[in-house]
Amino acid sequence: PVLVLDYGAQYAQLIARRVREAQVYSEVVPHTTAVADLLEREPAAIILSGGPSSVYAEDAPKVDAALFEAGVPVFGICYGFQAMAQALGGTVEHTGTREFGRTELGVNGGVLHEELPARHPVWMSHGDCVTKAPEGFQVTAGSQGAPVAGFEDLGRKLAGVQYHPEVAHSPHGQEVLRRFLHEVAGIRPQWTTASIVDDQVARIRAQVGDGHAICGLSGGVDSAVAAALVQRAIGERLTCVFVDHGLLRAGERAQVERDFVAATGVKLVTVDARQRFLEALAGVVDPEQKRKIIGREFIRVFERAARDLKAKGDVEFLVQGTLYPDVVESGGGTGASNIKSHHNVGGLPDDLRFTLVEPLRSLFKDEVRRVGLELGLPETIVHRQPFPGPGLGIRVIGEVTADRLETLRAADAIAREELTAAGLDSEIWQCPVVLLADVRSVGVQGDGRTYGHPVVLRPVSSEDAMTADWTRLPYDVLERISTRITNEVAEVNRVVLDVTSKPPGTIEWE
Ligand code: XMP
Repeated sequence: PVLVLDYGAQYAQLIARRVREAQVYSEVVPHTTAVADLLEREPAAIILSGGPSSVYAEDAPKVDAALFEAGVPVFGICYGFQAMAQALGGTVEHTGTREFGRTELGVNGGVLHEELPARHPVWMSHGDCVTKAPEGFQVTAGSQGAPVAGFEDLGRKLAGVQYHPEVAHSPHGQEVLRRFLHEVAGIRPQWTTASIVDDQVARIRAQVGDGHAICGLSGGVDSAVAAALVQRAIGERLTCVFVDHGLLRAGERAQVERDFVAATGVKLVTVDARQRFLEALAGVVDPEQKRKIIGREFIRVFERAARDLKAKGDVEFLVQGTLYPDVVESGGGTGASNIKSHHNVGGLPDDLRFTLVEPLRSLFKDEVRRVGLELGLPETIVHRQPFPGPGLGIRVIGEVTADRLETLRAADAIAREELTAAGLDSEIWQCPVVLLADVRSVGVQGDGRTYGHPVVLRPVSSEDAMTADWTRLPYDVLERISTRITNEVAEVNRVVLDVTSKPPGTIEWE
């Protein structure tokens, strides 16, 4: 792999993703990893990420100069570039000229910037700068505030840049990273979707042997792709379990039962637990209590299904759709695989021990989607927008009843249909439709007075759901949704638009 040494900026994961976009496998490792341990992994190259420190700060993380002696290609970015310069005998100074944001870069030869415009914009974020490159390095770029903004020593396969090539604001950055990987380090691009599938299938076969596995399907992208990979590897020794808690949107159960099974041929057990969930939720209004009840019931139902399957044959493996960002964010552990499953499924009891199979553990979300398409999953599953585990249960504001769910499901289906028809699916992150079940308002329809409920449209745009903005939907689309919902859904006589960003609002209403 190409190892990205994380110096504590938020950019390390992004660098790893960009490296993979250049079809080279990469992983993020903490900068505290000893050089010997790094080399033991036989890295094809090492990238030093940016970081919040100044190389002068007392606790500034250093780069062990031994790293540059091992013959492994190294690329330094921002802080990593300065740390590299310092370790190799160059000069880093606190000149007082800081550069933040868009900056013009002047290019002067070299392999990294070959064929790029002599002047082009890059994204900078630095206080200190390199004023003298280490011996043996050619200076290939500079900017107003950074006289040495790029250098390379092709003989030793060492190079670096002051700016951030990984961010979209450096329009030629990906090309520079690509040139480092392919031209300077001489790595062949082999990390393709097809190779990911082959590789994972081989790993799953090696792990599971002739054993049996189960997988809980949520209808979401991750569990679907994980299941499809395991199915490709072990065929009908995988059983998928889908819990219908009655809080799904229109067509979702059918989508799993029909489309997913048709695409994969997976063996599927659907547990119809609708009645059970309704009974457990009867009379409950408090959002946190609803969430707790839904979570608890879900685990009980899944646990029962797992127990039944285990009793029938020996199911020792549990498939989970854990993604690479979760692994990195929880400390990057190489992880023992035989963890008590209740740490992961959130409550399976001790006597139901499973060994985890996590085929997406090394993948980013966009790679997961590509793998899904490669495995033949339909777009409707692969490009599905996020939907919360507690489902419509937290979008009926007030007590959850069968009738209210029916009303919300109908309104939600119309909104989704119209948004899709308007080609807006890729523009919006998600658009919850919320039923204000305890609020009534007066309306007039035909000749009669109505006394119905409002629904709220909550279209949001977001990168990661941590923050969000309300999406400026075209008025004509809003109008179509409003007209159709009030005409077609008897209980609803008013459609309102939520124009709150997150923060202060959350995306869901409960
Ligand atoms: P909030 O409402 O916290 O939602 O702004 C952020 C994102 O998370 C989704 N969400 C959930 N997803 N289980 C989930 O799997 C949950 O309990 C849950 N609650 C919220 C929400 O749809 C949004 O994408």
